[in-house]
Amino acid sequence: MKLCEKKLELLFMEAIKKIKPEYSEWDKLFIQKASNEKFGDYQTNFAMISSKIFNQNPRQTAQEIITNFPENEMIEKLEIAGPGFINIYLSNRYLSEVVSHLGKEEVDFSFLNREGDVIIDYSSPNIAKRMHIGHLRSTVIGDSIKRIFKYLGYNVVADNHIGDWGTQFGKLIIGYRNWLDEAKYKENAIEELERIYVKFAQEAEENPELNDLARKELKKLHDGDEENLRLWQEFIQVSLDEYNKVYDRLNISFDEYRGESFYHDMMPGIIDLLKEKGLARFSQDALVVFFEEEENLHPCIVQKKDGAFLYSTSDLACLQHKKDNYNLNKAIYVTDERQQTHFKQFFKISDMLDWKINKEHIWFGIMRFQDGIFSTRKGNVIRLEELLDESVKRVRQVIEEKNPNLPEEEKKIIAEKIGVGAIKYADLSKNPQSMVIFDWDKMLSFEGNTAPYLQYTHARIKSVFRKAAEQNISIDETNLQIADEIDHSLALKLSQFPYAVLKAGENCKPNMVADYLFELGQKFNSYYNVKPFLKAENEERNSRLLLAQKTAEIIRQGLDLLGIESVDRM
Ligand code: ARG
Repeated sequence: MKLCEKKLELLFMEAIKKIKPEYSEWDKLFIQKASNEKFGDYQTNFAMISSKIFNQNPRQTAQEIITNFPENEMIEKLEIAGPGFINIYLSNRYLSEVVSHLGKEEVDFSFLNREGDVIIDYSSPNIAKRMHIGHLRSTVIGDSIKRIFKYLGYNVVADNHIGDWGTQFGKLIIGYRNWLDEAKYKENAIEELERIYVKFAQEAEENPELNDLARKELKKLHDGDEENLRLWQEFIQVSLDEYNKVYDRLNISFDEYRGESFYHDMMPGIIDLLKEKGLARFSQDALVVFFEEEENLHPCIVQKKDGAFLYSTSDLACLQHKKDNYNLNKAIYVTDERQQTHFKQFFKISDMLDWKINKEHIWFGIMRFQDGIFSTRKGNVIRLEELLDESVKRVRQVIEEKNPNLPEEEKKIIAEKIGVGAIKYADLSKNPQSMVIFDWDKMLSFEGNTAPYLQYTHARIKSVFRKAAEQNISIDETNLQIADEIDHSLALKLSQFPYAVLKAGENCKPNMVADYLFELGQKFNSYYNVKPFLKAENEERNSRLLLAQKTAEIIRQGLDLLGIESVDRM
């Protein structure tokens, strides 16, 4: 199935070529959704923005385009508006075709360059601490970008670049040997690791020489000391077991868990390469890469004077590994805004090495709380699990009030799906680069741009179908009649789903899928308020049910692209 927006573009190109065969500036041809239903379904301002080329009044160009427009089944009418807009009205027949095929036939995205692998680095927590609220955004935004790219037909590799080689390990090893409570460690290993880590910090305040000892243990680890390696592996296992619980709840998976340690042995090679190419030089004993003035970037240290490598060195090694081992289409990294400089620096160095890699840093703003309930618990960060539990608990209360007779097992499943979904959606529905303010009441509301609203709309449709089944109403999927403007408007919205996902992918912005879903939800709910389903008859009933069925299907698919599950009742 070809995208409607692409088909329109081709028709316009054909008409324009008839008027001006030598025309070539196709990037000026934009077909947009109409800003208002009064102006049709789509619009283009092409005649206006190319008035210089055509050297005539844009309305006249618009008229010529319409006169030369190729025969087609798609368009009902074209209309000139204002100073030279062309308003485009799709035919009901065409829309009913498209909507009938939606979800059944693959959409043609072959115009995208999808060769090779897109590697997305997200979540990537530093080992030995439980995940906290700060890990939520990278985890869910990265996962959604992965799902969107998969929908568009890319081969995606999800990479969890865990921080498993940092200074925390020296401290943990000291803590483990001196202050471990065996019984507690058996009972809840990660909690005990966190405790000894905090204990280390407290002890080191009084005995700063502990820091030197920790550095020594870290060095021993990096040099391959057997005992330290064994402990290190144990800490990683304990942490991963813990993370996987959270990932399971969030419905998140990875193809690779390659931590920083994996690239350790490649780092000397990176240093040699940088020296060889004359990109790195010694400055105050450290090895540093300097940038051209117009780059406006601070110099980047790649090796400290004690020989230690840095974050950039590790990321360069990691990128080199990707370049050498994959047919890399693009490398995407999802982290918070504080890492912008790091990514600019290391991306620039990779360009200076002439690696020619398509790469993108998706950064996001920090998260805050509206009601302060979770904000500062004696300076502790909020654990991700606690956040999910709190949300599920709140949803559970609402279910108890609204639907007390549901079986216990179902209440539990629904509360989990809605509670977790609400948190993810609150995050994903915002532009990544804006700050997210968590407001429990808003995000759990059944009205407004929330996951519960969309899940509710989905469940509402499913309930219509349960009733239809009780009344033995069957649906003829081949017979969708678009009868009036209200049908037309809902069908048009449905047909625009693939394009919305395309745009979300091009911009790496899952919120564009959320925006689409919210608009669809609103459109459907106002449809539902004016058009009865089961009280209608024959063809009319059939078509309305079909539109409802497609709406439910698209909401389910769209929520799935955000990593959110739908429910059939709530
Ligand atoms: N572990 C890092 C942190 O917690 C994030 C890593 C992001 N990925 C990367 N390749 N640098 O801040």
